[in-house]
Amino acid sequence: MAQRIDVKDLNIYYRDFLAVQDVSMSIEPRSVTAFIGPSGCGKSTFLRTLNRMHEVIPGARVEGTVEMEGVDLYGDDVDPVAVRRSIGMVFQRPNPFPTMSIRDNVLAGVKLNNKRISKSDADDMVESSLRGANLWNEVKDRLDKPGSGLSGGQQQRLCIARAIAVKPQVLLMDEPCSALDPISTLAIEDLIHELKKDYTIVIVTHNMQQAARVSDRTAFFNIAGTGKPGRLIEMNDTATIFSSPAEKATEDYVSGRFG
Ligand SMILES: Nc1ncnc2c1ncn2[C@@H]1O[C@H](COP(=O)(O)OP(=O)(O)OP(=O)(O)O)[C@@H](O)[C@H]1O
Ligand SMILES: [Mg+2]
Repeated sequence: MAQRIDVKDLNIYYRDFLAVQDVSMSIEPRSVTAFIGPSGCGKSTFLRTLNRMHEVIPGARVEGTVEMEGVDLYGDDVDPVAVRRSIGMVFQRPNPFPTMSIRDNVLAGVKLNNKRISKSDADDMVESSLRGANLWNEVKDRLDKPGSGLSGGQQQRLCIARAIAVKPQVLLMDEPCSALDPISTLAIEDLIHELKKDYTIVIVTHNMQQAARVSDRTAFFNIAGTGKPGRLIEMNDTATIFSSPAEKATEDYVSGRFG
């Protein structure tokens, strides 16, 4: 299920503003890749180009290529909706549909895809997705209660269940733990560890310990100053980035000297 992503020479614009310049990288399947770097360096912007969520902003565009298993996701005959289905996204703030039940939240993405499914298939999908998101035991007796009645950490796991219900190949997570307490954060990290057996996972985080704990590879982005584009400074095995990075800027950042 997990797929590889190759980015080549990517420039990312908001109208005339070059927000991220000249990124090339490979993201390996069945592993966790962390994006780190100071605020405004373009981590979220870059993440959103990987499933074509960037271009929903008026005037936003890219140059360069993003390939999944060799297929250019920006090719003329590629449907962006299909791209977003196979490359799922989890946002910084848990965003369940508040009036929808827990069960319907899990099924929301599947229903959006216009798939007709039987009640028993839907039940199976709800259970397996909630189990996959490590939430089943906590909610199995209240599937018809609103998603907004869950704790923040439970809501974030519900959003992860919703994202994996559509069986994506890649899961993009933009600071998924930033609104969570330490216990919920560890639950999500355990979950990421489990999910990487089946998925390609990319996580943006400001938490260096988290990047060190959950990721196999780490990409450090930086920005030279306000109005300048963000750039990929270096990418390597997480252990190398944290113990002996090639660039001084990386060392300063991971050791907390700036950012
Ligand atoms: N919708 C938008 N329209 C115009 N410019 C934008 C938009 N979103 C982001 N930018 C700009 O693009 C640059 C990169 O922003 P981005 O949100 O990707 O940074 P980030 O690394 O995710 O930061 P943070 O760590 O604070 O989340 C910033 O200069 C930002 O102001
Ligand atoms: Mg961001």
